[in-house]
Amino acid sequence: MEQTFIMIKPDGVQRGLVGEIIGRFEKKGFSLKGLKLITVDRAFAEKHYADLSAKPFFNGLVEYIVSGPVVAMVWEGKGVVTTGRKIIGATNPLESAPGTIRGDYAIDIGRNVIHGSDAVESARKEIALWFPEGVAEWQSSLH
Ligand code: CMP
Repeated sequence: MEQTFIMIKPDGVQRGLVGEIIGRFEKKGFSLKGLKLITVDRAFAEKHYADLSAKPFFNGLVEYIVSGPVVAMVWEGKGVVTTGRKIIGATNPLESAPGTIRGDYAIDIGRNVIHGSDAVESARKEIALWFPEGVAEWQSSLH
């Protein structure tokens, strides 16, 4: 079954949006397979965003991600990578539709509340990086 990596960024945790965000994924019908509150260091954040290392905003992005605890999660379900990105909304919150997480809760591209893997292959890499211990194997009887 398809899995994706979702991270509630430090601003989302500090603003008390954790329950709201988890609720949106649960109510859609996806299954939570891994979850942890974790503060990462610079080297780890640089690894997660390695593809963006040449971007002018890279340093600021890394500083933002290490600025406080994040909620790292693995969600599973049919089409969860693409649909997860739809639930999250466009990267720039000013372009995210109302009803999406970023569309409802953010205005700044540098403080956009949440990250979601952009493809099945990047999800696989991100899950391996954030959950080297592995994730839940059990299957809920509701799904
Ligand atoms: P995310 O989905 O985590 O993927 C890459 C992140 O880089 C993105 O969300 C934003 O937080 C950040 N980002 C992308 N473009 C910009 C930008 N122009 N300025 C600042 N941050 C950006």
